[in-house]
Amino acid sequence: MEQFTLPDDFFFGAAMSGPQTEGEWNTGGKLENLWDTWSQENLSDFYNRVGSYAGNAFMAKYQEDLRIMADLGLTTYRTSIQWSRLLDEDGNINPEGAAWYHELFRASREAGLECFVNLYHFDMPTFLFRRGGWESREVVEAYAAYAAKAFAEFGQEVKHWFTFNEPTVEPEQRFQAGVWYPKLHDFGRARVVQYHISVAHALATANFRAAQADGTVRADAKIGLINAFTPTYTRENPTPEDLEAVRMMGGINNRWWLDLITKGELPVDVLDTLAENGVHLPIRPGDAEILKQGVVDWLGCNYYHPTRVQAPASKVDEYGLPRFADEYVWPDAVMNESRGWEIYPEGLYDFGIDVRDNYPGLEWFVSESGMGVMDEHLHRGDDYRIEDPYRVDFVRGHLEALARAIEAGSPCKGYHYWGLIDNWSWSNAFKNRYGFVEVDLMDGYKRRLKRSADWLREVATTHVVK
Ligand code: BG6
Repeated sequence: MEQFTLPDDFFFGAAMSGPQTEGEWNTGGKLENLWDTWSQENLSDFYNRVGSYAGNAFMAKYQEDLRIMADLGLTTYRTSIQWSRLLDEDGNINPEGAAWYHELFRASREAGLECFVNLYHFDMPTFLFRRGGWESREVVEAYAAYAAKAFAEFGQEVKHWFTFNEPTVEPEQRFQAGVWYPKLHDFGRARVVQYHISVAHALATANFRAAQADGTVRADAKIGLINAFTPTYTRENPTPEDLEAVRMMGGINNRWWLDLITKGELPVDVLDTLAENGVHLPIRPGDAEILKQGVVDWLGCNYYHPTRVQAPASKVDEYGLPRFADEYVWPDAVMNESRGWEIYPEGLYDFGIDVRDNYPGLEWFVSESGMGVMDEHLHRGDDYRIEDPYRVDFVRGHLEALARAIEAGSPCKGYHYWGLIDNWSWSNAFKNRYGFVEVDLMDGYKRRLKRSADWLREVATTHVVK
């Protein structure tokens, strides 16, 4: 493969989240979140019975981890504040939680790293879930109040804020696909959750603007949204029904969020089709004005794999609910067998062109991209480091697609690798390892660079990709 370069001002960084790294799940006044509750109720749902408790020991090892990131040439990273750590049950600041995040942001600055701060990463506090979670408007208001508290507490320290990570995935995994607690199969309830998260995003963004206007938040701060974008494809020579499946799945997963953050609206064609199929959203008078405030400064795109769909064999699923698409299995797909996800770097190019053409002026960055692989400990070299050339191939392929999108005029500003340091992957726990840095669970969560880290350091420091 020929070498190529990325722009001088393009940033390289790492992506992670509070609940997957911090550990210390019940110390320092932290409340239970749904991962903690699920871990206690049914530990056997987690790979090797490793629940939410330990993360990757980041709270104990954050100074070392920040040093590793800086040493690899990274200049930015993203994590999330845990709602259940920052606030108590009355919605007041938990001083110990606030102290931890102040210390983390201080240490990040000292290490020369800009910390991007996300406010929600699938980590609903359990007591709020019991009050209805994202199906309840009261919880939507509670989230907006939480965001306001975070802006007030850290407004002078943080420059890059994000309201949500992957608001498309939470309804899908918890309410539709039955994968995450409470493991429901209800397309309609999933859309209610999706709608309420949209309102919550807009209310938090409005709070951010107000805090910036009165000087609580620094003048150079920006706010954004991070979503998992899955460019949606169908078979060659599609039927009109296949294209209809693309319209609805791309509409629910992608356009919904892109329209919200650029126009302050939800796509009318999607809402109409949902209503025609009996899926009604809990829209209140005045919501249109609230959603208008959801326009943000820039976007984070998490990209792992495309979505391939075709016309559904039946318009009703096995639970009697509407079904808009079936999966289309593309015969040429290259798979990451460990995770069951297709590897398709070209999707990143296509996303970049979609932004350029349909959302002009929207700046964005790759907020997550990564490859999780099973049994990596079997790939140790003579010096005990893991040999992972497949990770270099994966990242190089995605950066190459990105470089072409930038060359074609898409305003992509940077790339954050997901799981730079192996972390806890929800119910998959530590099954698939994403890191350029190994976390050795047999040796006190010891950090050890994998071979690919040498390549990453060169790319991040030179911006030349070989
Ligand atoms: C993204 C999430 O969906 O993908 C991360 O933002 C997650 O939280 C990552 O860990 C990789 O997926 P998984 O399920 O393999 O951990």
